[in-house]
Amino acid sequence: MTLIDGKATSELIKQEIAAEVEARISRGEKRPHLAAILVGHDGGSETYVANKVKACEVCGFKSTLIRYEDDVTEEILLQKIKELNNDADVDGFIVQLPLPRHINEQHIIEAIDYRKDVDGFHPVNVGRMSIGLPCFVSATPAGILELLRRYDIHTSGKKCVILGRSNIVGKPMATLMMQKHVPGDATVTVCHSHSQNLVEECREADILIAAMGQPNFVKADMVKEGAVVIDVGTTRVPDATRKSGFKLTGDVKFDEVAPKCSFITPVPGGVGPMTICSLMMNTLKAAKHLF
Ligand code: GUN
Repeated sequence: MTLIDGKATSELIKQEIAAEVEARISRGEKRPHLAAILVGHDGGSETYVANKVKACEVCGFKSTLIRYEDDVTEEILLQKIKELNNDADVDGFIVQLPLPRHINEQHIIEAIDYRKDVDGFHPVNVGRMSIGLPCFVSATPAGILELLRRYDIHTSGKKCVILGRSNIVGKPMATLMMQKHVPGDATVTVCHSHSQNLVEECREADILIAAMGQPNFVKADMVKEGAVVIDVGTTRVPDATRKSGFKLTGDVKFDEVAPKCSFITPVPGGVGPMTICSLMMNTLKAAKHLF
């Protein structure tokens, strides 16, 4: 059994990006620049954005954080997005979600120029991905693909079962795993809360990607001997013995499932650290103006 080390892989990739950035700078090219819009003071969002800014420093990117209070209007946000769309120095930008209830998230996402949408949330990027055109892929699926690539995990012709059908993980993951090149080229089944025979489907999976947000849902008897298991779950389960008061818990019952696997991602330290890394890879791609 090989433990897939997302933390080490993400650190390595950030170093690779930093080296490429310095090479670009020495050729006289501009420093990649990521901007982030943060609305309000939600603890989770504050942490995520602070980590994104920190990752930019490691990669040698310029970063700009634009903050608004909770009562900001949709008009003001749309105006700022227009400004960022037209700012030649900004290669890519994100609007941290969730937004306050009075703001329509879809309006905001669709106002972003898809060529600067490094989150890959714009419908143009989602559509381009689905027909195999150059695009920005959202962070979690892109991070999983990078792990499959770096651990040389064979996907062509394999049976891949995805648990969960969310717009940001399950659905794009299914699209990517069935794309006509590797990683991908797999036979994909998507299971969800209303699937019949879910357990039987899982038992046949060569690659099982659990992304339904139910802690410890995948048990040993649901996993084939030698399977590759990717755990996307990150539920905060209360734990009084920890200083934080919670334990980050995956969708897979790791202790009993791991011995059956050829490869498995732990939680934490598996898929999680790769997501910010994907954003950095997308920002570098944006700076290269490849599409
Ligand atoms: N909130 C939680 N995850 C994300 C993400 O990947 N991008 C943005 N913009 N907001 C988020």
